[in-house]
Amino acid sequence: MFHRRQFLRAATGALAVTFAALTATAGFAQDAIKVGLIAPMTGPFAPNGKQMQTAAQLYMQEHGDTVAGHKIELIVKDDAGVPDNSKRLAQELVVNDGAKFLMGFGLTPIAMAVGPIATEAKVPAIITLAGTSIITEKSPYFVRTSFTLPQSSTIIADWAVQNGIKKVVTLVSDYAPGQDAEKAFVERFKAGGGETLESLRVPLANPDFAPFLQRAADQKPDALFIFVPASQGGVVMKQFVERGLDKSGIKLIGTGDFTDDDILNGMGDAALGAVTAHNYSAAHPSEMNQAFVKAFKAASGGGRPNFVGVHTYDGMHLVYAALEKTGGDTDGDKLIAAMKGMAWESPRGPISIDPETRDIIQNIYIREVKRGEDGELYNVEFATFENVKDPAKAAK
Ligand code: DHB
Repeated sequence: MFHRRQFLRAATGALAVTFAALTATAGFAQDAIKVGLIAPMTGPFAPNGKQMQTAAQLYMQEHGDTVAGHKIELIVKDDAGVPDNSKRLAQELVVNDGAKFLMGFGLTPIAMAVGPIATEAKVPAIITLAGTSIITEKSPYFVRTSFTLPQSSTIIADWAVQNGIKKVVTLVSDYAPGQDAEKAFVERFKAGGGETLESLRVPLANPDFAPFLQRAADQKPDALFIFVPASQGGVVMKQFVERGLDKSGIKLIGTGDFTDDDILNGMGDAALGAVTAHNYSAAHPSEMNQAFVKAFKAASGGGRPNFVGVHTYDGMHLVYAALEKTGGDTDGDKLIAAMKGMAWESPRGPISIDPETRDIIQNIYIREVKRGEDGELYNVEFATFENVKDPAKAAK
Protein backbone atom coordinates (compact mmCIF):
# COMPACT_ATOMS: atom_id res chain seq x y z
CA MET A 1 0.00 0.00 0.00
CA PHE A 2 2.61 2.38 1.16
CA HIS A 3 4.62 1.72 -1.93
CA ARG A 4 1.63 2.18 -4.19
CA ARG A 5 0.67 5.52 -2.63
CA GLN A 6 4.23 6.68 -2.88
CA PHE A 7 4.30 5.67 -6.51
CA LEU A 8 1.00 7.45 -7.19
CA ARG A 9 2.21 10.61 -5.53
CA ALA A 10 5.37 10.53 -7.56
CA ALA A 11 3.39 9.86 -10.74
CA THR A 12 0.93 12.69 -10.01
CA GLY A 13 3.84 14.98 -9.27
CA ALA A 14 5.45 14.08 -12.54
CA LEU A 15 2.18 14.69 -14.35
CA ALA A 16 1.79 18.05 -12.70
CA VAL A 17 5.30 18.99 -13.74
CA THR A 18 4.59 17.83 -17.27
CA PHE A 19 1.35 19.82 -17.35
CA ALA A 20 3.14 22.93 -16.08
CA ALA A 21 5.80 22.48 -18.73
CA LEU A 22 3.14 22.05 -21.39
CA THR A 23 1.25 25.18 -20.44
CA ALA A 24 4.48 27.10 -20.18
CA THR A 25 5.42 25.93 -23.65
CA ALA A 26 1.95 26.76 -24.98
CA GLY A 27 2.07 30.16 -23.28
CA PHE A 28 5.50 30.75 -24.73
CA ALA A 29 4.24 30.16 -28.24
CA GLN A 30 0.88 31.91 -27.98
CA ASP A 31 1.22 34.74 -25.51
CA ALA A 32 2.85 37.63 -27.26
CA ILE A 33 4.06 40.43 -25.03
CA LYS A 34 1.66 43.26 -25.72
CA VAL A 35 2.63 46.89 -25.90
CA GLY A 36 -0.33 49.27 -25.75
CA LEU A 37 0.31 52.52 -27.61
CA ILE A 38 -2.25 55.15 -26.63
CA ALA A 39 -2.10 57.83 -29.30
CA PRO A 40 -4.29 60.58 -30.79
CA MET A 41 -5.02 58.98 -34.18
CA THR A 42 -7.99 61.33 -34.74
CA GLY A 43 -8.83 64.87 -33.62
CA PRO A 44 -6.67 68.01 -33.65
CA PHE A 45 -3.54 66.16 -32.51
CA ALA A 46 -3.80 63.35 -35.09
CA PRO A 47 -0.43 64.30 -36.69
CA ASN A 48 1.20 63.39 -33.36
CA GLY A 49 -0.57 60.03 -33.31
CA LYS A 50 0.63 59.33 -36.82
CA GLN A 51 4.21 60.12 -35.79
CA MET A 52 3.91 57.73 -32.83
CA GLN A 53 2.43 54.86 -34.79
CA THR A 54 4.80 55.18 -37.74
CA ALA A 55 7.86 55.31 -35.50
CA ALA A 56 6.83 52.38 -33.28
CA GLN A 57 6.10 50.22 -36.32
CA LEU A 58 9.34 51.29 -37.98
CA TYR A 59 11.33 50.25 -34.92
CA MET A 60 9.71 46.80 -35.01
CA GLN A 61 10.26 46.49 -38.74
CA GLU A 62 13.93 47.26 -38.29
CA HIS A 63 14.54 45.15 -35.17
CA GLY A 64 12.17 42.23 -35.68
CA ASP A 65 9.14 41.35 -33.59
CA THR A 66 10.80 38.87 -31.24
CA VAL A 67 12.73 39.73 -28.08
CA ALA A 68 14.25 37.21 -25.66
CA GLY A 69 12.24 34.49 -27.40
CA HIS A 70 8.93 36.32 -27.08
CA LYS A 71 6.82 37.84 -29.82
CA ILE A 72 6.06 41.52 -29.38
CA GLU A 73 2.63 42.75 -30.35
CA LEU A 74 1.93 46.45 -30.74
CA ILE A 75 -1.68 47.46 -30.06
CA VAL A 76 -2.50 51.01 -31.14
CA LYS A 77 -5.48 52.66 -29.42
CA ASP A 78 -6.88 56.01 -30.52
CA ASP A 79 -7.73 58.30 -27.60
CA ALA A 80 -8.39 61.33 -29.86
CA GLY A 81 -6.37 63.34 -27.31
CA VAL A 82 -9.14 63.08 -24.69
CA PRO A 83 -7.92 62.02 -21.21
CA ASP A 84 -11.13 60.15 -20.27
CA ASN A 85 -10.68 57.98 -23.37
CA SER A 86 -7.01 57.39 -22.55
CA LYS A 87 -7.84 56.24 -19.05
CA ARG A 88 -10.50 53.81 -20.26
CA LEU A 89 -8.19 52.49 -22.98
CA ALA A 90 -5.32 52.02 -20.53
CA GLN A 91 -7.62 50.02 -18.29
CA GLU A 92 -8.81 47.86 -21.19
CA LEU A 93 -5.26 47.30 -22.42
CA VAL A 94 -4.08 46.13 -19.02
CA VAL A 95 -7.13 44.13 -17.92
CA ASN A 96 -8.54 42.70 -21.17
CA ASP A 97 -5.48 42.53 -23.40
CA GLY A 98 -2.93 41.82 -20.68
CA ALA A 99 -0.61 44.55 -21.99
CA LYS A 100 2.76 44.53 -20.23
CA PHE A 101 3.71 48.03 -21.38
CA LEU A 102 1.74 51.22 -21.92
CA MET A 103 3.18 53.91 -24.14
CA GLY A 104 2.35 57.21 -25.81
CA PHE A 105 0.33 59.90 -23.94
CA GLY A 106 0.18 62.91 -26.24
CA LEU A 107 -0.83 65.49 -23.65
CA THR A 108 0.02 66.02 -19.99
CA PRO A 109 -3.58 65.51 -18.76
CA ILE A 110 -3.54 62.13 -20.53
CA ALA A 111 -0.40 60.98 -18.74
CA MET A 112 -1.87 62.19 -15.46
CA ALA A 113 -5.05 60.15 -16.11
CA VAL A 114 -3.11 56.97 -16.95
CA GLY A 115 -0.63 57.19 -14.04
CA PRO A 116 -2.89 55.61 -11.38
CA ILE A 117 -3.66 52.67 -13.69
CA ALA A 118 0.03 52.02 -14.32
CA THR A 119 0.64 52.14 -10.57
CA GLU A 120 -2.19 49.79 -9.70
CA ALA A 121 -1.36 47.29 -12.44
CA LYS A 122 2.42 47.64 -11.94
CA VAL A 123 2.84 48.13 -15.68
CA PRO A 124 5.60 50.38 -17.06
CA ALA A 125 4.15 53.44 -18.81
CA ILE A 126 6.57 55.07 -21.24
CA ILE A 127 5.84 58.74 -21.90
CA THR A 128 6.67 59.56 -25.51
CA LEU A 129 5.33 63.09 -25.71
CA ALA A 130 3.88 64.77 -22.60
CA GLY A 131 6.50 67.15 -21.21
CA THR A 132 5.39 68.60 -17.87
CA SER A 133 8.16 68.07 -15.37
CA ILE A 134 6.09 66.63 -12.53
CA ILE A 135 4.45 63.74 -14.44
CA THR A 136 7.17 61.18 -13.71
CA GLU A 137 6.67 61.79 -9.97
CA LYS A 138 3.05 60.67 -10.23
CA SER A 139 3.79 56.96 -10.67
CA PRO A 140 6.87 54.81 -9.99
CA TYR A 141 6.00 53.04 -13.27
CA PHE A 142 6.44 56.16 -15.44
CA VAL A 143 9.58 56.36 -17.57
CA ARG A 144 10.02 59.22 -20.06
CA THR A 145 11.69 59.21 -23.48
CA SER A 146 10.36 62.64 -24.49
CA PHE A 147 11.56 65.73 -22.62
CA THR A 148 10.61 68.25 -20.01
CA LEU A 149 9.76 71.81 -20.95
CA PRO A 150 12.28 73.28 -18.48
CA GLN A 151 15.07 71.41 -20.33
CA SER A 152 14.58 73.53 -23.44
CA SER A 153 13.11 76.71 -21.88
CA THR A 154 16.08 77.44 -19.60
CA ILE A 155 18.54 76.97 -22.46
CA ILE A 156 16.74 79.30 -24.86
CA ALA A 157 16.50 81.87 -22.02
CA ASP A 158 20.29 81.80 -21.63
CA TRP A 159 20.72 82.12 -25.38
CA ALA A 160 18.39 85.16 -25.46
CA VAL A 161 20.38 86.88 -22.69
CA GLN A 162 23.66 86.19 -24.44
CA ASN A 163 22.36 87.49 -27.77
CA GLY A 164 21.26 90.95 -26.83
CA ILE A 165 17.56 90.23 -26.30
CA LYS A 166 16.46 92.41 -23.40
CA LYS A 167 12.66 92.55 -23.56
CA VAL A 168 10.44 89.57 -24.19
CA VAL A 169 6.75 88.74 -24.24
CA THR A 170 5.97 85.07 -23.55
CA LEU A 171 3.07 83.26 -25.21
CA VAL A 172 2.24 79.72 -24.12
CA SER A 173 -0.63 77.25 -24.25
CA ASP A 174 -2.62 77.59 -21.06
CA TYR A 175 -2.06 74.21 -19.44
CA ALA A 176 0.63 72.48 -17.39
CA PRO A 177 3.49 72.25 -19.93
CA GLY A 178 2.88 75.85 -21.00
CA GLN A 179 3.08 76.95 -17.39
CA ASP A 180 6.29 74.91 -16.94
CA ALA A 181 7.80 76.51 -20.05
CA GLU A 182 6.77 80.02 -19.02
CA LYS A 183 8.09 79.67 -15.47
CA ALA A 184 11.41 78.16 -16.53
CA PHE A 185 11.96 80.77 -19.25
CA VAL A 186 10.89 83.84 -17.24
CA GLU A 187 12.91 82.92 -14.15
CA ARG A 188 16.06 82.18 -16.08
CA PHE A 189 15.72 85.20 -18.39
CA LYS A 190 15.20 87.50 -15.40
CA ALA A 191 18.18 85.98 -13.57
CA GLY A 192 20.28 86.89 -16.61
CA GLY A 193 19.06 90.50 -16.55
CA GLY A 194 16.22 90.22 -19.09
CA GLU A 195 12.77 91.70 -18.69
CA THR A 196 9.48 89.94 -19.43
CA LEU A 197 6.96 92.59 -20.47
CA GLU A 198 3.97 90.28 -20.28
CA SER A 199 3.14 86.58 -20.08
CA LEU A 200 0.24 85.56 -22.29
CA ARG A 201 -1.59 82.22 -22.10
CA VAL A 202 -3.75 80.92 -24.93
CA PRO A 203 -6.42 78.22 -24.48
CA LEU A 204 -5.27 74.76 -25.59
CA ALA A 205 -8.44 73.76 -27.44
CA ASN A 206 -9.27 75.50 -30.76
CA PRO A 207 -6.82 78.31 -30.11
CA ASP A 208 -7.12 81.72 -31.76
CA PHE A 209 -3.64 83.18 -31.40
CA ALA A 210 -4.34 86.38 -33.38
CA PRO A 211 -5.45 88.68 -30.53
CA PHE A 212 -2.61 87.42 -28.33
CA LEU A 213 -0.04 87.94 -31.07
CA GLN A 214 -1.30 91.50 -31.63
CA ARG A 215 -1.19 92.25 -27.92
CA ALA A 216 2.38 90.90 -27.77
CA ALA A 217 3.46 92.98 -30.78
CA ASP A 218 1.93 96.16 -29.36
CA GLN A 219 4.46 96.00 -26.53
CA LYS A 220 7.33 96.10 -29.02
CA PRO A 221 9.44 93.37 -27.44
CA ASP A 222 12.81 92.35 -28.87
CA ALA A 223 11.55 88.78 -29.03
CA LEU A 224 8.45 86.68 -28.58
CA PHE A 225 8.96 83.40 -26.67
CA ILE A 226 6.51 80.71 -27.78
CA PHE A 227 5.48 77.31 -26.48
CA VAL A 228 2.63 75.46 -28.17
CA PRO A 229 2.25 71.67 -28.30
CA ALA A 230 3.47 69.70 -31.31
CA SER A 231 1.38 70.31 -34.44
CA GLN A 232 -0.06 73.71 -33.32
CA GLY A 233 2.89 75.86 -34.48
CA GLY A 234 1.55 76.17 -38.02
CA VAL A 235 -1.52 78.09 -36.86
CA VAL A 236 0.64 80.44 -34.77
CA MET A 237 2.83 81.24 -37.76
CA LYS A 238 -0.15 81.67 -40.11
CA GLN A 239 -1.81 84.18 -37.79
CA PHE A 240 1.54 85.94 -37.16
CA VAL A 241 1.92 86.48 -40.90
CA GLU A 242 -1.75 87.43 -41.43
CA ARG A 243 -1.25 90.30 -38.98
CA GLY A 244 1.88 91.41 -40.82
CA LEU A 245 3.97 90.74 -37.73
CA ASP A 246 6.67 89.00 -39.76
CA LYS A 247 7.61 92.59 -40.81
CA SER A 248 7.65 93.89 -37.22
CA GLY A 249 11.25 92.95 -36.49
CA ILE A 250 10.19 90.90 -33.46
CA LYS A 251 12.44 87.84 -33.19
CA LEU A 252 10.67 84.51 -32.72
CA ILE A 253 12.22 82.24 -30.09
CA GLY A 254 10.88 79.30 -28.13
CA THR A 255 10.96 75.64 -27.43
CA GLY A 256 11.27 73.47 -30.53
CA ASP A 257 7.67 72.29 -30.17
CA PHE A 258 6.79 75.48 -32.03
CA THR A 259 8.96 74.74 -35.10
CA ASP A 260 8.03 71.04 -35.16
CA ASP A 261 9.72 69.35 -38.16
CA ASP A 262 6.45 67.74 -39.23
CA ILE A 263 4.80 71.10 -40.03
CA LEU A 264 7.77 73.45 -40.39
CA ASN A 265 7.76 73.31 -44.18
CA GLY A 266 4.22 74.64 -44.30
CA MET A 267 5.23 77.76 -42.35
CA GLY A 268 7.05 79.38 -45.26
CA ASP A 269 9.69 82.09 -45.20
CA ALA A 270 8.24 83.76 -42.10
CA ALA A 271 9.78 80.95 -40.04
CA LEU A 272 13.31 81.70 -41.31
CA GLY A 273 15.53 82.89 -38.49
CA ALA A 274 13.35 81.56 -35.66
CA VAL A 275 15.64 80.25 -32.91
CA THR A 276 14.51 77.46 -30.63
CA ALA A 277 15.99 74.99 -28.15
CA HIS A 278 15.03 71.34 -28.41
CA ASN A 279 16.10 67.71 -28.28
CA TYR A 280 15.60 66.72 -31.92
CA SER A 281 15.90 68.09 -35.42
CA ALA A 282 15.31 66.12 -38.61
CA ALA A 283 18.53 67.85 -39.71
CA HIS A 284 20.60 66.36 -36.86
CA PRO A 285 23.77 65.45 -38.73
CA SER A 286 24.48 61.98 -37.28
CA GLU A 287 24.65 58.94 -39.53
CA MET A 288 22.01 57.24 -37.42
CA ASN A 289 19.61 60.14 -37.88
CA GLN A 290 20.11 60.34 -41.60
CA ALA A 291 19.20 56.66 -41.90
CA PHE A 292 16.26 57.16 -39.54
CA VAL A 293 14.85 60.11 -41.51
CA LYS A 294 15.13 58.14 -44.75
CA ALA A 295 13.43 55.06 -43.30
CA PHE A 296 10.72 57.11 -41.60
CA LYS A 297 9.91 58.95 -44.84
CA ALA A 298 9.60 55.63 -46.65
CA ALA A 299 7.35 54.26 -43.89
CA SER A 300 5.11 57.34 -43.64
CA GLY A 301 4.61 57.96 -47.34
CA GLY A 302 6.98 60.92 -47.48
CA GLY A 303 6.39 62.83 -44.25
CA ARG A 304 9.48 63.44 -42.18
CA PRO A 305 9.88 62.55 -38.52
CA ASN A 306 9.62 65.09 -35.75
CA PHE A 307 10.49 64.79 -32.06
CA VAL A 308 7.25 62.87 -31.36
CA GLY A 309 8.34 60.15 -33.76
CA VAL A 310 11.82 59.96 -32.28
CA HIS A 311 10.52 59.76 -28.69
CA THR A 312 8.32 56.82 -29.68
CA TYR A 313 11.08 55.06 -31.64
CA ASP A 314 13.19 55.36 -28.48
CA GLY A 315 10.24 54.19 -26.39
CA MET A 316 10.18 50.96 -28.39
CA HIS A 317 13.92 50.63 -27.93
CA LEU A 318 13.37 50.86 -24.18
CA VAL A 319 10.78 48.06 -24.35
CA TYR A 320 13.13 45.82 -26.32
CA ALA A 321 16.22 46.57 -24.26
CA ALA A 322 14.41 46.12 -20.94
CA LEU A 323 12.99 42.75 -22.02
CA GLU A 324 16.40 41.64 -23.19
CA LYS A 325 17.81 42.57 -19.80
CA THR A 326 15.10 40.68 -17.87
CA GLY A 327 15.34 37.70 -20.24
CA GLY A 328 11.69 38.17 -21.21
CA ASP A 329 10.41 38.51 -17.63
CA THR A 330 7.48 40.97 -17.76
CA ASP A 331 7.31 41.72 -14.04
CA GLY A 332 6.75 45.48 -13.92
CA ASP A 333 9.22 46.13 -11.12
CA LYS A 334 11.95 44.16 -12.87
CA LEU A 335 11.31 46.02 -16.13
CA ILE A 336 11.48 49.41 -14.42
CA ALA A 337 14.69 48.37 -12.65
CA ALA A 338 16.10 47.33 -16.05
CA MET A 339 15.20 50.68 -17.61
CA LYS A 340 16.83 52.78 -14.90
CA GLY A 341 20.20 54.04 -16.04
CA MET A 342 19.82 52.59 -19.51
CA ALA A 343 21.83 54.55 -22.10
CA TRP A 344 21.79 54.34 -25.89
CA GLU A 345 22.19 56.27 -29.10
CA SER A 346 19.01 57.79 -30.46
CA PRO A 347 18.51 59.58 -33.78
CA ARG A 348 18.58 62.74 -31.61
CA GLY A 349 22.00 61.89 -30.11
CA PRO A 350 23.07 60.09 -26.92
CA ILE A 351 20.32 59.64 -24.31
CA SER A 352 19.84 57.85 -21.00
CA ILE A 353 17.22 57.26 -18.32
CA ASP A 354 18.06 58.96 -15.04
CA PRO A 355 18.12 56.09 -12.52
CA GLU A 356 16.84 58.37 -9.76
CA THR A 357 13.94 60.10 -11.51
CA ARG A 358 13.16 57.78 -14.50
CA ASP A 359 13.24 60.94 -16.59
CA ILE A 360 15.33 61.43 -19.69
CA ILE A 361 18.83 62.89 -19.81
CA GLN A 362 19.67 64.21 -23.27
CA ASN A 363 21.43 66.86 -25.33
CA ILE A 364 19.54 70.06 -25.94
CA TYR A 365 20.46 71.87 -29.15
CA ILE A 366 19.97 75.48 -30.15
CA ARG A 367 18.72 75.67 -33.72
CA GLU A 368 17.83 78.25 -36.33
CA VAL A 369 15.27 77.74 -39.06
CA LYS A 370 17.03 77.76 -42.43
CA ARG A 371 16.24 76.58 -45.91
CA GLY A 372 18.16 73.45 -46.82
CA GLU A 373 19.73 72.55 -50.14
CA ASP A 374 16.64 70.45 -50.90
CA GLY A 375 14.48 73.57 -50.57
CA GLU A 376 12.88 72.42 -47.31
CA LEU A 377 12.90 74.31 -44.03
CA TYR A 378 14.98 72.78 -41.23
CA ASN A 379 15.91 73.49 -37.65
CA VAL A 380 19.67 73.72 -38.11
CA GLU A 381 21.52 72.95 -34.88
CA PHE A 382 24.36 75.34 -34.01
CA ALA A 383 25.06 74.78 -30.29
CA THR A 384 24.84 71.70 -28.09
CA PHE A 385 24.27 71.40 -24.34
CA GLU A 386 25.20 67.88 -23.35
CA ASN A 387 23.41 65.49 -21.00
CA VAL A 388 20.79 67.92 -19.74
CA LYS A 389 18.72 66.67 -16.78
CA ASP A 390 15.32 68.11 -16.03
CA PRO A 391 16.27 71.40 -14.33
CA ALA A 392 13.00 71.49 -12.41
CA LYS A 393 13.89 68.22 -10.66
CA ALA A 394 17.55 69.09 -10.25
CA ALA A 395 16.48 72.21 -8.30
CA LYS A 396 14.57 70.14 -5.70
C1 DHB B 1 2.90 68.39 -24.37
C2 DHB B 1 2.38 68.08 -25.61
C3 DHB B 1 3.09 68.39 -26.75
O1 DHB B 1 2.60 68.10 -27.97
C4 DHB B 1 4.31 69.02 -26.68
O2 DHB B 1 4.95 69.33 -27.81
C5 DHB B 1 4.84 69.32 -25.44
C6 DHB B 1 4.14 69.00 -24.29
C7 DHB B 1 2.16 68.06 -23.14
O3 DHB B 1 0.93 68.06 -23.17
O4 DHB B 1 2.78 67.81 -22.12
